[in-house]
Amino acid sequence: MADGKKLRDIAWKDFKALPLTEKGTYFQGTPPHTLIAQQFTRKQLEELCTLATRIKRINKRRAGANFLKGLLSDKRAMLYFAQPSSRTYLSHNAACQILGLDTMDVRDTKTSSEVKGESPEDTIRTFSSYADMIIMRHPKGGFAERVAWMLAHTGREIPVLNAGSGSDQHPTQALLDIYTLERSFEDIGGVDGKHVAFVGDLLRGRTVRSLAWMLTLYKDVTLHFVAPEALQIGQDILDLLDEAGTKYEVTQDFASVMPVADAIYMTRIQDEWDEEGESSTESSDYHIGAEHLDIIKDTCAILHPLPRRKEISTDIDNDPRAVYWRQMRNGMWIRAALILQSFGRDDEVNKYYDDY
Ligand code: NCD
Repeated sequence: MADGKKLRDIAWKDFKALPLTEKGTYFQGTPPHTLIAQQFTRKQLEELCTLATRIKRINKRRAGANFLKGLLSDKRAMLYFAQPSSRTYLSHNAACQILGLDTMDVRDTKTSSEVKGESPEDTIRTFSSYADMIIMRHPKGGFAERVAWMLAHTGREIPVLNAGSGSDQHPTQALLDIYTLERSFEDIGGVDGKHVAFVGDLLRGRTVRSLAWMLTLYKDVTLHFVAPEALQIGQDILDLLDEAGTKYEVTQDFASVMPVADAIYMTRIQDEWDEEGESSTESSDYHIGAEHLDIIKDTCAILHPLPRRKEISTDIDNDPRAVYWRQMRNGMWIRAALILQSFGRDDEVNKYYDDY
């Protein structure tokens, strides 16, 4: 996996200027970091999905759960969440518990020495003295990359997992979304060839930005970006799709997309990022409810990274096509797989599973 490119051998300004896919090659070394969606290959996604399912199955029995708990009992993880989080924080924490890692956290920078004027870089360097992995969410796009680069220059480089950076990247959410799509389409030919619709705030939705790119790794997928003009997907993502040769449509017309979509990925309006009142373009056109259940495909999977507001009516929660609650739980398994792989201990699960 390692191709010899090391973060400690490159100056920050040169690293920053690299195209995303090239940046990704710097995260595959020892230790590996998970920072951007573009660092993944399809093979890696498939391996992670398989590993997640194995962990999930092994965990069902007490002996299996005890085996998993021993795998990383010599490690500690620091959860540094400088932005609000429920699911991402809890699922990473639960994933650590499944594998026996102890966890520590800072969930509010007001409780860390940052209030005394310490730089976030020094704060994180401090964490790395006590922990073997940093799982972090930060409002500043690119900050997790900076952290990995900084740690590579301290002689204590530990894996950094980006649990959401700015309005830019959310690679572990994209992994759980891929896992959910893979599982939803298991009996109907997998993700290849499918139509995936993204609906809502596509401009600031970091989950959409990461997942849209990951879907370029699948054959013949078509992406439909459904949003009011002020909240449409960024040109930078469309450029990446063009480069990858992935088909897409940019539209405001949800009604025309609904019947063709194999998956509908709903998102909330991200008004915390408003600069010029972009959210005022929110409209009930970007909504799904019981009135649409006859229009969408019988096999359609409805996803949402959550939290939701009004874009999905609660009255469809029990429809078998509404997979967002399952999607959330999938996050715990795929994150356990990722954490295990980051420490290079995945072979132990694969071996246990073969003998299972
Ligand atoms: C998302 C996020 O934080 O980007 N939530 C999540 O991680 N499940 C989506 C959102 O906040 O709307």
